[in-house]
Amino acid sequence: MGRHTGFSKLGTSDKLQKLVEEGLLDKETLHLLVSFQPQDPLVASLFEHLTENVVSTFPLPYSIAPGFLINGREYAVPMVTEESSVVAAASWSARFWAERGGFRTRVISETKIGQIHFIWLGNPDQIKSASPAIFSRMRSSSGPLTEGMENRGGGITGIELINLTHLIEGYYQIRVSFLTADSMGANFINSCLESMAADLGSALNEFINDGNNPEVIMSILSNHTPDCRVECTVECTIPELAGIRGVDDPADFARRFSLGVQIAKIDPYRAVTHNKGIYNGIDAVILATANDFRAVEAAGHAYASLGGHYSGLTRISTDNNIFRYTLEVPMAIGTVGGLTKSHPLAAASLKILGNPHAGELMQIAASAGLANNFAALKALTTTGIQAGHLPLHHRKQSQ
Ligand code: MEV
Repeated sequence: MGRHTGFSKLGTSDKLQKLVEEGLLDKETLHLLVSFQPQDPLVASLFEHLTENVVSTFPLPYSIAPGFLINGREYAVPMVTEESSVVAAASWSARFWAERGGFRTRVISETKIGQIHFIWLGNPDQIKSASPAIFSRMRSSSGPLTEGMENRGGGITGIELINLTHLIEGYYQIRVSFLTADSMGANFINSCLESMAADLGSALNEFINDGNNPEVIMSILSNHTPDCRVECTVECTIPELAGIRGVDDPADFARRFSLGVQIAKIDPYRAVTHNKGIYNGIDAVILATANDFRAVEAAGHAYASLGGHYSGLTRISTDNNIFRYTLEVPMAIGTVGGLTKSHPLAAASLKILGNPHAGELMQIAASAGLANNFAALKALTTTGIQAGHLPLHHRKQSQ
């Protein structure tokens, strides 16, 4: 038996004590971990049920970027980030664009995908022609699971069979499309897929019955969500770009900024940094609302590669003397379910935002992303990042 067998069964103090006894934790670190343990028993219990072997917490700064004007409505945006300048940059950008019409955003679509991956060695033509009957049986068998979601406006919106037998012998996918109302929907999607997968063998036997049994390899949602997407645009006339520190000539600023965007489109080295700056803003909102930032980032980076190479997620136009700057990103997030309501600070963030539905939160997070990216690129193409992007208090100290 390993030295740490049973560790997970110990209470928090015993876990820490065991680590001290084994020489893995010194007294000073022990005190530090204890000092960061949650004081509120409700929070302590919530955290212990969230994940495993919890011995302390790891706080991050919780900030507010005020003055975001999004589709004509003003928001104070909660941002959780450890990185200096991010909140200052978002706030600066929010103020700048609020004076120029604000952020115009729209949800393009909210469809999410789940996959049942399986091996089946029968005749591909037979499974293709039987698939409508198989799918309608699967839909009715998952009815009890989807009913509640359908009442909230979601549910299964499509099922298709994908034949990938040319890549792996006998490999097919059943690709299921879902709408998950205001939840991110991971649990719902995974439960539906697993119940459908459990029925796959009998469904194939009912409609094909050639003695070939499917081998389900796995059933899981996909975090690649190109059809769960939001768009965010800022726009003004080029003369209205005047007033930015370091900008004497707005037309020249627009030209240099536009080149910065084009460079991120063509060069992956620059694109990754460009997109990282976008996620400085998006992740901070995703964290403040206890959404899954790994899923949001993974989806964004996959989307950035859809054209065949990794590319910047924004696009620009400066035609007809109009500076129009747009971000388009996938984002599968929720405002119900998961931690969004049970984590007191996530619930507080949603309250500060006026309890948005999921689509509205996508638009707020995208606005924060575009705000951060605009501020970064403005600094990069004018004064340089060191002078132009320091947090306010640093700037004061170094003056
Ligand atoms: C730093 O966190 C983000 C930037 O590097 C983004 C960018 O270069 O666009 C400033």
